[in-house]
Amino acid sequence: MERKRIVSGIRPTGDLHVGHYLGVLRNWVELQEEYQCFYFAADWHALTTEYRDPSVITRSTRDMVMTWLSVGLDPERSVLFRQSDIKSHAELFLLLSMITPISWLERNPTYKEMKEELKEKDLSTLGFLGYPVLQAADIVMYHGDRVPIGEDQLPHLELTREIVRRFNFIYGENTLREPKEILTEAARVLGIDGRKMSKSYGNAIFIYETGESLKGKVMQMLTDVKRVRRKDPGEPGDCNLYPLHEYFTDDGARGEIQAGCRSAGLGCVDCKKILLGNLVKEFSPIWEKIDYYRAHASLVDDVLAQGGKRAAEESEVTMEQVRKVMKLTG
Ligand code: TRP
Repeated sequence: MERKRIVSGIRPTGDLHVGHYLGVLRNWVELQEEYQCFYFAADWHALTTEYRDPSVITRSTRDMVMTWLSVGLDPERSVLFRQSDIKSHAELFLLLSMITPISWLERNPTYKEMKEELKEKDLSTLGFLGYPVLQAADIVMYHGDRVPIGEDQLPHLELTREIVRRFNFIYGENTLREPKEILTEAARVLGIDGRKMSKSYGNAIFIYETGESLKGKVMQMLTDVKRVRRKDPGEPGDCNLYPLHEYFTDDGARGEIQAGCRSAGLGCVDCKKILLGNLVKEFSPIWEKIDYYRAHASLVDDVLAQGGKRAAEESEVTMEQVRKVMKLTG
């Protein structure tokens, strides 16, 4: 039996950070075991907000794919590609936009929020309003059964389902597949200032963050703010850094850290050094691989070319079907 399909994308708008690693990438790697996965760099989606300075998109796409390969995404098993290489995403976006009521897009909470938050970017564009329609095209193009996403993306997936139902109602049942989400628990990682880790807050620890730069950030991290002096006891549950130990430190050592924090036997600086050591242990093999891909950049081109070819074949099958039911073929 054919394996169920996963479709997911990341917008290449900067370097991937530890939050991406824990919340998205580790999960993507695991899903490869059970599903046929289509993973892509959503560079057109990135363009909806970065249209004034698109160079960041080009740069981040290459770096992002190097990181994907280095954390274990496997181009032999999964289809890894760049959205803009598959022009039919734009065609399907156009065709889906014919049947998508503007009111569905305008009431989308993410749309309203982001437009308000990113006022300086001027997002009163057709492209930005149509963001979820392009996302729907991405997903149904490969007949995605499941889409791994964070909670913030649920309204977009619901819109995809609504568009699919409307399309199938008008043009014939079972042309497009309705996807379901795989809710990936947002990793409980905070940035160095105690807010959610995010590139736009400038508080992220990046996956490719090494040496003094990594050390500086870990040492700078807020801990339990009630623990003012070294001899004050602390509470891991109130500590901004402790959640990282949950991911990078093994059970036994974590027990000791908790006890040491509560009894003030262990100071924050020592606790940070333990974390730093574990981050280095976890990420060193990944850094090595990233370095390798940086030195052999043509390998990334090969992966994208190979993935693009497979994606193009798949998408052509879908498009033929779509053109046929929409009476666009003779
Ligand atoms: N909107 C998604 C995000 O910002 C990125 C994305 C684009 C996506 N197309 C997709 C995710 C298709 C899943 C499926 O994270």
